[in-house]
Amino acid sequence: RLREGKRVPEWFSFPEVIEELQRGYPPRHKQGFTIFCTGLSGAGKSTIARILYARLLEMGGRPVTLLDGDVVRRNLSSELGFSKEHRDINVRRIGFVASEITKNRGIAICAPIAPYAATRRQIRSLIEKYGGFVEVYVATPLEVCESRDRKGLYAKARAGLIKGFTGIDDPYEPPSAPEVLIDTTELTPDEAAQEVLLYLERAGYIK
Ligand code: PPS
Repeated sequence: RLREGKRVPEWFSFPEVIEELQRGYPPRHKQGFTIFCTGLSGAGKSTIARILYARLLEMGGRPVTLLDGDVVRRNLSSELGFSKEHRDINVRRIGFVASEITKNRGIAICAPIAPYAATRRQIRSLIEKYGGFVEVYVATPLEVCESRDRKGLYAKARAGLIKGFTGIDDPYEPPSAPEVLIDTTELTPDEAAQEVLLYLERAGYIK
């Protein structure tokens, strides 16, 4: 149209519009994104996710939704167990809900174990079509999770009362290139959440 000699529309010359076109639109701080915490049971995913939820709510701007592992299992996946097939269905459901939130420019915070790398990759590519995907590997070592054993599940798994418990007799495939890696033996939950917020700021998701 410009080559045909038509006038440049007035809005086109606004510096903000040009800036947005150069950076990609919408800019990251206006896009939706998903924070996907993954790690062993008892690693601290839910605690970190809850702090992030509160901090991001406080900042305002975008709606924030917390999709915690236990809460999702009660409300969205109550018929599922812990076989590979069921875990994958559960994690894909979380990924789908997070992708819808991201598409609508909200913030989704997820905190399932999500033990399988291929499933996490699928969710990443689904969500990245609509906005950001920030994988947070809560890399608390098994010995530490087991020594905390807040729910007494590791003791039951060791005693053979629970079969297929992640880290004991079921796999956990660690992320190879997470956006943020956190070892909660080195950091308090508040410090861990701060690491994630600093990443979000560096990457331009929050100001
Ligand atoms: S998964 O693998 O992503 O579908 O798991 P998730 O939905 O996050 O559920 C994990 C919580 O379920 C409890 N639980 C078990 N975890 C692992 N393996 C087995 N077999 C199992 N059975 C019950 C456990 O309390 C997990 O809670 P978190 O919050 O992760 O500690």
